[in-house]
Amino acid sequence: MGTEERRLLLEAFDSNWIAPLGPHVDAFEREFATTVGVPAAAALTSGTAALHLALLLLGVGPGDEVIVSDLTFAASANVVRYLGATPVFVDADRETWNIDPDLLAEALADRARRGRPPKAVIAVDLYGQCADYDRISAACAPYGVPTVQDASEALGATYKGRPAGTQGLLAAFSFNGNKILTTSGGGMLVSARTDWIVEARQLASQARDPAPHYQHSKVGYNYRLSNLLAAIGRGQLLALSDRVAARRRNFAAYREALGDLPGWSFMPEAPTGLSTRWLTCVTIDPRQSGVDREAIRETLERADIEARPLWKPMHMQPVFSECPIYGGTVGRQLFETGLCLPSGSALMAADRARIVEIIRGAMAPASSRGAVAAS
Ligand SMILES: Cc1ncc(COP(=O)(O)O)c(C=O)c1O
Repeated sequence: MGTEERRLLLEAFDSNWIAPLGPHVDAFEREFATTVGVPAAAALTSGTAALHLALLLLGVGPGDEVIVSDLTFAASANVVRYLGATPVFVDADRETWNIDPDLLAEALADRARRGRPPKAVIAVDLYGQCADYDRISAACAPYGVPTVQDASEALGATYKGRPAGTQGLLAAFSFNGNKILTTSGGGMLVSARTDWIVEARQLASQARDPAPHYQHSKVGYNYRLSNLLAAIGRGQLLALSDRVAARRRNFAAYREALGDLPGWSFMPEAPTGLSTRWLTCVTIDPRQSGVDREAIRETLERADIEARPLWKPMHMQPVFSECPIYGGTVGRQLFETGLCLPSGSALMAADRARIVEIIRGAMAPASSRGAVAAS
């Protein structure tokens, strides 16, 4: 937390606007929309709420299918289930780790052949990097299928020079605890369609009709962000470019210090845009390195340092085991070999140096074994 977040939070507190509405909510929405380059934004309790409302606005309902990136966090697919629809998963592209546009085209053709064109596609911008939206749009266009952009992990990224969040018909952001902008919990739904954002705000306020009494014509949700948390978000938004720079610095420093290790590869950056490098992600090929990612993760854990495996693909999750999947081997391999290194915006050079030293120590026995075997 910086000084500006603290000042705005105390101001909200002192003003007594302790509610899921208020001047900071309105200002946060305006400022966020300006940052992302969209006309309107709805501040919500979570990124999950934003995705849920996006699908509601697109009319997704029981019996529908929605195509979802296979390699993602469960929230991207859970929202499909909230609406009684079925997620259909499409594997990741090896070069970007995001949804594979060629496989997406195949999946769309196959679903259409079965007489069930999906109601929407949820494309996820993984680990701070945008999916390839021109190719996704080209795949979706023949079927008129709209794209929802799950930009939860990608605030501050760009695609072909434009900010993440402007590529989908609707886009969702998360301000959860570990995100580049965090309000401890929160989210934002953005769209070029202001009417949808107005509707989203109403749905998020228990769908209360504009009447002096409490009147409701449809089912609504309690999804509005509190004025206190919006104040924190406003402060953090001012520091967004510094935070992106800090995350990219983490990535560059790790690559410089660990890039020579056998079997280690860093997440590629797509030529289509700037990744925020929200998390520094690597894959470790145990055949080349002699050590698998679990061994590295456990060594770090013993030193009280948290590193996490990459997301486990949705088609491998028991809860989604019945859902259709196109491809699946790329995501599976990334999961089996991938690790997210500590990547906070406040990570100091000394912290990184310690992490690097521990990793190099864990690799040393394997390297020397390799050297003996090779000699
Ligand atoms: C890809 C992705 N989608 C959706 C979400 C859900 O966001 P939230 O935790 O704010 O509900 C997250 C993060 O938590 C995420 O990483």
